[in-house]
Amino acid sequence: MLAQRGTRRELLKAGGLLAAVGASGATRALAQVEAAPPLQTAVTPKYFPLGEFAPEVSLAGKVAVITGASRGLGLATGLALQAEGVTVIGTSRVPAYYPRHPFPMLTLDVADLASVEAFASELAGTLNGQPIDILINNAGRGVFGTAVPVATSLVPYMESQTQLAMETLYIGQMRVTNRLLPMMSQSSYSRLLYTVSTIDYSVGGSEAGEAAGGSFFSTYVAGKRALLTYANNLRGFLRVSGSPIKVSTINPTLMKTGFSSGHNPIYLEPVDPQGNSQNPYLQAVLDGFRALMDVALPASFVG
Ligand SMILES: NC(=O)c1ccc[n+]([C@@H]2O[C@H](COP(=O)([O-])OP(=O)(O)OC[C@H]3O[C@@H](n4cnc5c(N)ncnc54)[C@H](OP(=O)(O)O)[C@@H]3O)[C@@H](O)[C@H]2O)c1
Repeated sequence: MLAQRGTRRELLKAGGLLAAVGASGATRALAQVEAAPPLQTAVTPKYFPLGEFAPEVSLAGKVAVITGASRGLGLATGLALQAEGVTVIGTSRVPAYYPRHPFPMLTLDVADLASVEAFASELAGTLNGQPIDILINNAGRGVFGTAVPVATSLVPYMESQTQLAMETLYIGQMRVTNRLLPMMSQSSYSRLLYTVSTIDYSVGGSEAGEAAGGSFFSTYVAGKRALLTYANNLRGFLRVSGSPIKVSTINPTLMKTGFSSGHNPIYLEPVDPQGNSQNPYLQAVLDGFRALMDVALPASFVG
């Protein structure tokens, strides 16, 4: 699908490659990847007018806060905004892991209410009354595992990991929004963004989808779908209220980041320190997905 360079619709269909990875489909997906020359993932600037792109308004001097900006899409977005003259403040659960980062980072774990509250206070002190012009709720993690636990003994593990996933993908974003909304600019330019995903348009349940391993992404899709619904309703509420704050979602397809590596994702069943599973079905999904990520689009395209 990525080989086709026709319409925007065809580009978006590339997200469907996720569904090609599964217990039975992983080998097929890997074969597809191996057979594909690197050119096949090179989407043309027709869709991403990188070189010639100029924002309609000057962003110079604006203030942007980006959650989950230590690496991947958050880092790429921070760099793109910095290039436009924006003052960027990012976050990480452990900023000390990222010395010499290109912009300052505050500590934030969106899945931990106390951390969100401490972050909001620290940010208010850092901004010292200066409003936030752009808030990008980008923090997130991949979530991998079956919709049904592989063993009865693993039910509590699966459920606590599912809770962590929902806190990370949805509740945490709402927590951050609730606390930072009063700090947002009330001028004509005020933007609130959420990194969702093309995969949130998948609702699951079809036999074909399941044959391709769809349920291994069930919790991730549920979390992102909840976030999309929240963002859409927030947009409507703010618009009707006459607020100048505009809400958007960013819906990337597969982007090359650390999203599926090691312990970056949340796993619904135990894995080893490298993020590999004893469960051959889950491992097949992970192998296939990681192979696809290796040839995915660069994070800078989202930036
Ligand atoms: N890559 C893709 O194909 C893709 C496609 C669609 C959507 N997305 C979404 O894009 C966003 C960024 O993902 P990525 O691909 O750039 O992955 P990544 O390279 O693993 O980056 C994830 C970022 O989120 C932060 N983070 C993780 N858990 C957090 C938590 N509990 N609280 C606060 N920050 C947390 C990480 O920071 P620390 O580890 O430093 O805390 C890191 O900066 C996510 O929301 C993801 O779901 C990715």
